Amino acid sequence: MKFLEGKTVLLGVCGGIAAYKAAELCRLLVQEGATVQVIMTAGAREFISPLTFSVLTGQPALTEIFKPGGEDPLTHIDLADRADLFLVAPATANILAKLAAGLADDLLTTTALAVTCPTLVAPAMNVNMYAKAAVQENLATLERRGWGIVEPEEGFLACGTTGKGRLAGLERIVAACRRALAPGDYRDVAVLVTAGGTREPLDPVRYIGNYSSGKMGYALARAAWERGARVTLVTASPLPPPPEVEVIRVQTAAEMLAAVEGRFEGSDIVLKAAAVADFRPVAQAANKIKKDAKQGLNLELEPTVDILAYLGRRKKRQILVGFAAETQDLLANARQKLQNKHLDLMVANDVTRPGAGFGSDTNIVTLLYPDGSKEELPRLSKPEVAHRILDAVKNLPGFPKKGTRPEREE
Ligand code: CTP
Repeated sequence: MKFLEGKTVLLGVCGGIAAYKAAELCRLLVQEGATVQVIMTAGAREFISPLTFSVLTGQPALTEIFKPGGEDPLTHIDLADRADLFLVAPATANILAKLAAGLADDLLTTTALAVTCPTLVAPAMNVNMYAKAAVQENLATLERRGWGIVEPEEGFLACGTTGKGRLAGLERIVAACRRALAPGDYRDVAVLVTAGGTREPLDPVRYIGNYSSGKMGYALARAAWERGARVTLVTASPLPPPPEVEVIRVQTAAEMLAAVEGRFEGSDIVLKAAAVADFRPVAQAANKIKKDAKQGLNLELEPTVDILAYLGRRKKRQILVGFAAETQDLLANARQKLQNKHLDLMVANDVTRPGAGFGSDTNIVTLLYPDGSKEELPRLSKPEVAHRILDAVKNLPGFPKKGTRPEREE
């Protein structure tokens, strides 16, 4: 879902070395369909030219509170009135102090005081500066007043040190923007997502696995987070998970079962996107199995627990969503699983179709409901499929009626 489409984002750029990343951020926000209006501090202009932003956004980057000749003194009010989102990235220690104190001595800070839309800061600075009590207290003040904070990441900093202070990844900043503008229809809803293909070890160097990448589950976790959910992601995928959500890494079906079982009681929705191994080796060799070229190798396998079927037998208020990856008789097989596992929704996909299934960035799914109805979705990106699934779940009977946007103090 394009929460940024048609929205006006005021992007404040401050004077830090990460200012150059704000150019790429502009491009991503524009790609999401937003109109981006950049406001630069004097410091930012030392690092990057306003022309860069003007070209990328199609809007003149603003730098001055007063135009030469004294015209147009109301720019900050006009800007604030048009804004759907106010974002400062990168935010320096100086701007955080000014915002927390309510100072208004340039176009960015006066506009910040005038906006009534959601507000976000993405700080970036030296590790010691970021750790200083003054900076942390200013951030705490802003957070208490309803500002969203996109925390910096740990890593190599421009000053040559390593630590927390590097501007958050741009994908994370864009996700935070989407969350700020999303309807909040999952706010306070506890969503448990499983992702990836489990691996059942044969010996210390080999496993039985499948081609699932985890991308669909990750897209669901992020989409639910964007819509305000409290998300726990149990993942068997080696891909880096979305950083905003609680992550539990597992490898085998048994580990996934243990992780899910312990969290089922506290969950409202379970999205079971993982491709769980149906069988595992009866015995795991302590040492690497050596080849004997004259003989084949027979593996003895035993069934794993069907986690989803187990949850289906135990569920009380929880909404259970299953995923059926099929290569033949898609709808009949998927419908059978919907019934047998007592699901509230089944997401069926034929993994043999180009543009669908394991590893692909897109998916083509059909949503099956317990009353026999179905909804076929076109080929969509996995994030778009994720939002369509969440739309469907929201309309199911039993969806918790919690989602409201919290009050802002400011
Ligand atoms: N599933 C599970 N635990 C298992 C096997 C599957 O929780 N041991 C869940 C998957 O996460 C998915 C759904 O069941 O949401 C359907 O998985 P799928 O592999 O398509 O079906 P199976 O029930 O395993 O049947 P089959 O392999 O025979 O198609």
